[in-house]
Amino acid sequence: MSIVITGASGSFGRGVADLLLEKISPPELILVTRNPASLAEFARRGAQVRFGDFDQPETLAQAFRGGEKMLLISTLAVGPRRQRQHRTAIEAATSAGFRHIVYTSSVGIHPKSPSLAVRDHYFTEELLRHAGPAFTFLRDSQYAEVIVTVMAPMALRTGKWIMSARDGSMAFVSKKDCVASATAVLASSGHEGAVYEITGPELYTFRQAAAIAAELGGRPIEYVEVTDDEKLAMWDAAGVPRTYDEGLKNDDGTGIWGSEEMISYERAIREGYFSICSRHVDLLTGRPARSLRDVFSANLEALN
Ligand SMILES: NC(=O)c1ccc[n+]([C@@H]2O[C@H](COP(=O)([O-])OP(=O)(O)OC[C@H]3O[C@@H](n4cnc5c(N)ncnc54)[C@H](OP(=O)(O)O)[C@@H]3O)[C@@H](O)[C@H]2O)c1
Repeated sequence: MSIVITGASGSFGRGVADLLLEKISPPELILVTRNPASLAEFARRGAQVRFGDFDQPETLAQAFRGGEKMLLISTLAVGPRRQRQHRTAIEAATSAGFRHIVYTSSVGIHPKSPSLAVRDHYFTEELLRHAGPAFTFLRDSQYAEVIVTVMAPMALRTGKWIMSARDGSMAFVSKKDCVASATAVLASSGHEGAVYEITGPELYTFRQAAAIAAELGGRPIEYVEVTDDEKLAMWDAAGVPRTYDEGLKNDDGTGIWGSEEMISYERAIREGYFSICSRHVDLLTGRPARSLRDVFSANLEALN
């Protein structure tokens, strides 16, 4: 069974590739990326590494040749470009004869969600439902690592955790559990047509997350509620672009998201679209999902 991972050079793709190499014969793993040189280590371990770019449809027939099962890792350019990229990938996978496409979606998929990111995932899920190959949706919740290594350190630095999400809640999930769940789906059978809500074990408000960060970081954090417009003005003042631009980085090396997308995400949290907590990580991986406190404990150095 040949398995293709698209967008394989990112941390999600590398994580899944690493785990899959322990479970399948290396030549059966095909890693598709815009930057094959960055995956030389996986080529040395026996995986096939191929060039493929969703913005260049003509590259995909060769990139996808011989694949049966695909992990379609969603791209990051939220909006019409991402929808176009996903459509191109799905059409190419269907033409290449894939039997099964596993897609990294988002928790809280709903046609009325105000989240711009969810809009793309909803669009892609609908395409996949009608494309032909079997589908599996992995609806990942907000990564707990983003809370712990990006948001909490910023709040500890400034003394404020500023949100328009009010008391909306999410079951933050460790990216490691998302990667392990994706690997389990790719390496076993029986997931055709399944929709998994990949979440942590408990719902938290951001106020509660801020309280844990203050406790573990040893400094006070004030949780400040603002409106969407106030939050947008804050991002504008900080020089954050309104829309996503590939390659832009924060001082700490993490990617920059577009502010309009972030505001829409907070609104969806506030309105309850993301308040979903499941046990699907346990179901897929055979062990309990990491809690937010587990992820804090594993990254305490980020709070210094
Ligand atoms: N749940 C959350 O909190 C959360 C947060 C952030 C992201 N996400 C999602 O999580 C997944 C992986 O995230 P990550 O951290 O691993 O991000 P990442 O490292 O940036 O991976 C995203 C991948 O998108 C691929 N990509 C970008 N443009 C592409 C194009 N034109 N054609 C083909 N592939 C393209 C890149 O692949 P190559 O460079 O190898 O071609 C890249 O590896 C994505 O689905 C993302 O949407 C979720």
